[in-house]
Formats: sequence, structure tokens, C-alpha cells
Amino acid sequence: MIKKIEEIVKKQAGESDWNYHIAPVRKYALRLATKYGANKQVVGIAALLHDIGRIKYGPKNHEETGAEEAKKILIKYKYNQKIIDDVLYCIRSHKGADGVQPKTIEAEILINADAMAHFNVLPLFFYDRDANVPFAERIAWVEKKITNGWKRKLTLKESRKMTQEKYQAIKLILKSIKDLV
Ligand SMILES: [Fe+2]
Ligand SMILES: [Fe+2]
Repeated sequence: MIKKIEEIVKKQAGESDWNYHIAPVRKYALRLATKYGANKQVVGIAALLHDIGRIKYGPKNHEETGAEEAKKILIKYKYNQKIIDDVLYCIRSHKGADGVQPKTIEAEILINADAMAHFNVLPLFFYDRDANVPFAERIAWVEKKITNGWKRKLTLKESRKMTQEKYQAIKLILKSIKDLV
């Protein structure tokens, strides 16, 4: 059943979103689930489906649109109600600190893993934006995203340990870019 869900997400997400976001989020989430003794089935499915709303309908309110979409998929594949409820809770709360505060370890893991994946794709954040946005604005946007992730979303000791070096490297690069002007 999980393979079916993986196929659906892979197809809908497209290569980049799959390779550089969804797949790493799942990898990190499962590692954290092992470390913290969380429910791996819930964490694995939630990681796969967490951005399905963004993928299908765009970023706006994608925690909610994604939860609705995930619900349909999970019902179709006959998951039990408890798994469905737990997965949907993770998806609804994955926005992190600005949104709903997570009440379960599985939801907290998803927020951490989601933020961790952003630390791999720093160059994409610079170049993947609207070409009309001035460079200084893009840099500020990257800095905010990375700082917010580090300070507010990486709440677990293990995810900080796994991301620390990348965070330091990114901060160093940002500093050197800012020193240019
Ligand atoms: Fe998301
Ligand atoms: Fe995400």
C-alpha cells in the first residue's frame, strides 16, 4: 500500500520536488522516528503526503488542502481510522511554529524533517525565485527561511545534530555574500 502511495506522490510531484524535497523529508523523518521511537508507518506516510496539497493546488493553505487529499488516498487504500487520523494530524500541523503546535512526536518529527530538507537546497533558493526579484531580496528571503528553520522548527536534538554543519556553512556563505555590498 505504501508503494502505491509512493508512486502517486512521485508521479504528481515531478522529478525535482520528489528528489530534492519529498524523498529527503521521508529519509530524515524515518531516521528521527527510529531515534525517538515514533510510529514509523505514520511518519513514513505523513512524509510522503505532507505536501500533496501544495503539489496539486499550490502553496496557499496546503496543510488543509493536503489533509483532504491525503484522506481520500488513505481511505481508498483502506488504512485504519487511527492511522488516517494520525497522518492527517501531522499534515495539518506541518507548517510548524506559525501554525498549529504539534501534540504528537510524529507531527514534531515531520516539521523537523521538512525544515531539514531545506538546508540541502540553498543554491536552488537563490536561483529558483522570480528573476525580477532583486538579489538582495532573495538573499534576505533565504536567510529568513534558514534562520526560521533552525531556530523554530528544528526542535529535536537529533535533527539539530544532523543539520548543524550545513547551518554553519550556509551562515558563512550568507555572511560572505552580504559582505560584498
Ligand atoms: Fe509544506
Ligand atoms: Fe515540505
